[in-house]
Amino acid sequence: MDELTIRTPDDLHVHLRDDVMLPETVPATARCFARATVMPNLVPPVTTADLATAYKQRILAAVPAGQNFDPLMTLYLTMQTSVADVEAAKVAGIRAIKLYPAGATTNSDAGVSSLEPLYPIFEAMSKAGILLLIHGEVTEYEVDVFDREKEFIERYLRDICKSFPDLKIVLEHITTKDAAEFVGSGPENIAASITPQHLLLNRNDLLAGTLKPHNFCLPILKRNIHQLALREAVASGSTKFFLGTDSAPHARHRKEAACGCAGCYSAWSAIELYAQVFDDLNCLDKLEAFASENGADFYGLARNEGTITLRKESWTIPEEVTLADSTPIVPFFAGQDLRWKLA
Ligand code: NCD
Ligand code: ZN
Ligand code: ZN
Repeated sequence: MDELTIRTPDDLHVHLRDDVMLPETVPATARCFARATVMPNLVPPVTTADLATAYKQRILAAVPAGQNFDPLMTLYLTMQTSVADVEAAKVAGIRAIKLYPAGATTNSDAGVSSLEPLYPIFEAMSKAGILLLIHGEVTEYEVDVFDREKEFIERYLRDICKSFPDLKIVLEHITTKDAAEFVGSGPENIAASITPQHLLLNRNDLLAGTLKPHNFCLPILKRNIHQLALREAVASGSTKFFLGTDSAPHARHRKEAACGCAGCYSAWSAIELYAQVFDDLNCLDKLEAFASENGADFYGLARNEGTITLRKESWTIPEEVTLADSTPIVPFFAGQDLRWKLA
């Protein structure tokens, strides 16, 4: 097969950032995704419907002329989020609220420090039909960084799923066999997004021999058995798994640093990276559902009408992209060859 046409996909987890980043990130995502779930971890975070609506306008202003792109806005859940905030979100057309455990990842200082007090908020979200998106990691220092996703599932997620059977929950950017099994065999109300980096890499690609800061993302890459489990999950064709790149740009100097930031900037090669994985797994026939159907169906959105075409054509991911203010960013997989290209 040299050409593959699929229904236009959605990226259901992306960091577009703000200001000078938007003219870079928005065209990169809009080039092939019709919609994207926009993460709210700005500084300060997007905690209210009014902030989300203003942010949406800044994103739309960066969409290249003649292109259609629908940013799906999210709110950042804090201990101060109220039922009124949830209701205002519903009125503003916001489809999802994002839970970051405080301190779990980039810009998560305002995140949640305990879950039980938020159960009334989950109840209100369930009633309003607003999805709960979760960065699923515990943050206690005594829990090993490689075990933090599994621990989150055991300590918190099982109970949330059980307590709110009508609340749609997305475990974002899953990284472990434990998460793939929990979601795959779990109740109807839970699904998961999977990134290209967690399908393509394992922790050797971060840590073996030399440290590769551009492969550092959170949740951190795990050992190869987990990578294999994620690859099996997408190859299985289960409708519970869908595309969410977690494309998350940071300036070069913030990643190549003593305290390097977590996040991989994959937007310019996202669909091609996934195509390569599905091709390697001999399941390109499963790419369309993963990229363009499962997520939309779970969110309760109509599937996109258009199509995109991928061609078998070798190309090299650039070593660097540069923002309008000259800040350099190193893309994920920089300098590496891919076999599929968006036509
Ligand atoms: C994300 C970011 O940079 O905003 N980083 C990451 O490593 N994934 C935050 C997140 O999605 O956890
Ligand atoms: Zn996250
Ligand atoms: Zn993310």
